[in-house]
Amino acid sequence: MSSQNIYILGIESSCDDTAASVIHNARILSNVIANQKIHEEFGGVVPELASRAHQQNIVPVVHQALKKANITKEQLSAIAFTRGPGLMGSLLVGTSFAKSLAYGLNIPLIDVNHMQGHILAHFIDEDGFNKPPFPFIAMTISGGHTQIVKVDDYFKMTVIGETIDDAVGEAFDKSGKILGLGYPAGPEIDKRAKLGNPLAFKFTKPKVDGLNFSFSGLKTAVLYFIQKKTKENPQFIENHLNDICASIQYTIIGILVDKLKRASKQTGIKHIAIGGGVSANSGIRQALKDGEQKFGWTTYVPKFEYTTDNAAMIAIVGYLKFLDTNFAQQSIAASARLKI
Ligand code: KG4
Ligand code: ZN
Repeated sequence: MSSQNIYILGIESSCDDTAASVIHNARILSNVIANQKIHEEFGGVVPELASRAHQQNIVPVVHQALKKANITKEQLSAIAFTRGPGLMGSLLVGTSFAKSLAYGLNIPLIDVNHMQGHILAHFIDEDGFNKPPFPFIAMTISGGHTQIVKVDDYFKMTVIGETIDDAVGEAFDKSGKILGLGYPAGPEIDKRAKLGNPLAFKFTKPKVDGLNFSFSGLKTAVLYFIQKKTKENPQFIENHLNDICASIQYTIIGILVDKLKRASKQTGIKHIAIGGGVSANSGIRQALKDGEQKFGWTTYVPKFEYTTDNAAMIAIVGYLKFLDTNFAQQSIAASARLKI
């Protein structure tokens, strides 16, 4: 087979999205995601329900990804799947399916670390998007993770900072829940923040050493603040919602940017790449742009559909590993706490 004609099917099922994607060399042909609406009414992901929904969605999602890519499964060069980290019951569905399919088609199986996927999504060939040069700093910010990683090569990565409690997306979502917003609240907080005053209310930033993060204190601070204010004025949230959202977002972005500045200073690296659902946030995007002016950074934000949980990022890692003939054994098992 010519190295120019590699087709990989990527499968992602680490949390609450069932996703499949076909990549041809480094170019995405299809990127299908079945979101699980069921969790909205619970205000968060219910693991037991997530794995059941994956079980229902996986075959139709893979079928659709192949159909959209306009290829048959016999044309596939390999199957790549998310091995971890994530929810065990969810990971098992994608892992078992990928193993069976690779076995049935008698093609290589490739295990992918979900966190590496978020970072290597920057290497998908996409018109109008530049790829970061090595070494660069990657910040992965989502509802499940908050990490700063020094990336020296595709598979030479070092976590130099991470959250010691909640992920940054949880800080948005849990604050939103206190304000009575729907789940996930991040996008609505972002929208309202644009209409509010970021300096209206002050929330203290956590003091965490080095490049680590902590977001659980902010959620508690928001809760106490709202309890106190609504006691004084039961309409407080309604009357000040945009200002509250702007102030919370301002605090969160401040925390992220402080750590990025530190990471850049400490490593001497000025190429900064972000990924994960929270990178959709307009505040963080603006802060990165400001960083280009203020600190001489070059910043990289992937196409939106490759920032949230997706299988295209699994497929690109599959492609890069395929080039290295770095394949998995059929005895491989999912790993909920897999490290980078
Ligand atoms: O990557 P993702 O789709 O799933 C994982 O959590 O892995 O990220 C979802 C998270 C949620 O917490 C959601 O509130 C947050 O990303 N989010 C945002 C925005 N869009 C999504 N947070 C702030 N501003 C946004 N515009
Ligand atoms: Zn993720």
